[in-house]
Amino acid sequence: MATPPRKQLPNSAAPAIDSQPSLKAISAGHLDIGCAVHDTQRLSPKEQQLLLHHFSSITAENVMKPEPIHPEPQRYRFEPVDAMVGFCEQHALKLIGHTLAWHQQSPAWFFETGDDGLSPKHRLSQHIAEVVGRYAGRLHAWDVVNEAVADTAANGEYLRDTPWLRALGEDYLIQTFKEARKADPKARLYYNDYNLERRDKRARALKLLQRLLDAGADVSGVGIQGHWILDQVPFEEIEQSIEQYAALGLEVMFTELDLDVIDRPDCSADLDVQRAYSLEEDLYRDGCPPDVLARQAEQYAQLFQLFRQHPAVTRVTFWGLHDGQSWLNHWPGTRTNHPLLFDRALNPKPAFWQLVG
Ligand code: G3I
Repeated sequence: MATPPRKQLPNSAAPAIDSQPSLKAISAGHLDIGCAVHDTQRLSPKEQQLLLHHFSSITAENVMKPEPIHPEPQRYRFEPVDAMVGFCEQHALKLIGHTLAWHQQSPAWFFETGDDGLSPKHRLSQHIAEVVGRYAGRLHAWDVVNEAVADTAANGEYLRDTPWLRALGEDYLIQTFKEARKADPKARLYYNDYNLERRDKRARALKLLQRLLDAGADVSGVGIQGHWILDQVPFEEIEQSIEQYAALGLEVMFTELDLDVIDRPDCSADLDVQRAYSLEEDLYRDGCPPDVLARQAEQYAQLFQLFRQHPAVTRVTFWGLHDGQSWLNHWPGTRTNHPLLFDRALNPKPAFWQLVG
């Protein structure tokens, strides 16, 4: 029985936030540094101070997804989004809208012709016109389509079998990009997915991106999510992927970066995978051991060395402001995770110091 790790004590020696080297300042001119934020209205004063000191962009973690923003055919929930847009304008933060077409967190009625006679095609158009149109000119970019490429290709398919694909066929992808562009002539428009660095899925993604570009869809860039596991980061495939996506003339971004310190089934970020963890498997419930944090620091540094080498890489977004906010505390099951640069007390971890060193 491994001895439980020593309790993580608040790092009272951590320098005050404003005296920490700023991540966005040292990356200015080449990389936007972002993080996912669930709701800017729920940030504590210290969280807001940390966010504004280190990050130049935020991605809406949930409030702009189809179901949260459009829960019923004639009802939208714009309040938290209006607040987030205003917050970003007030603090000169770039805002990434996330996301318009996704198989998760989309209401079932989206994909049906309802009593109102609106078909899924019209529902998609109406959703984009209302949501993208409301914030036209105020967002830096949209993750227009999320996770539409098949994880495996058992029967030669290259697209994920989603309700959108079943309702509208492949053309839903072109329609979504074209209507997003019509609703906002300025925003950057991205395709976003996980495992895009893996050779097989990358080939399918390149095929999709080329088809979109050939069809006149204004795709500005590709988001490689980057939900990687400590000691299993595919550095070589990441470098090859940057080069191959950049060759299409696209921005390349790492849009949901985290380094999971606890092994998990090989499914990257497929939310359909769920599993229970025993207490014994909640290895780091009292804190993350120094040797694990040291390896995490080395691997984040190696990633940033890669990102900084390639001019096509324009942004790195961490999927959460600090460990306490990470989705990886809840997926694929509940256990205490430590995947980001700042700990639950909002103190910088070794990975932060390695990046700014
Ligand atoms: O807001 C409701 C709340 O009203 C309700 O009481 C509660 C309990 O059911 O659920 C809350 O919604 C949750 C939402 O997060 C906001 O906290 C959803 O159940 C939960 O499924 C949702 O999880 C998000 C997940 O996407 C699914 O949308 C995670 O926070 C978010 O980090 C994760 O992010 C995704 C990216 O969008 C796409 N790439 C993969 C990445 C990780 O899965």
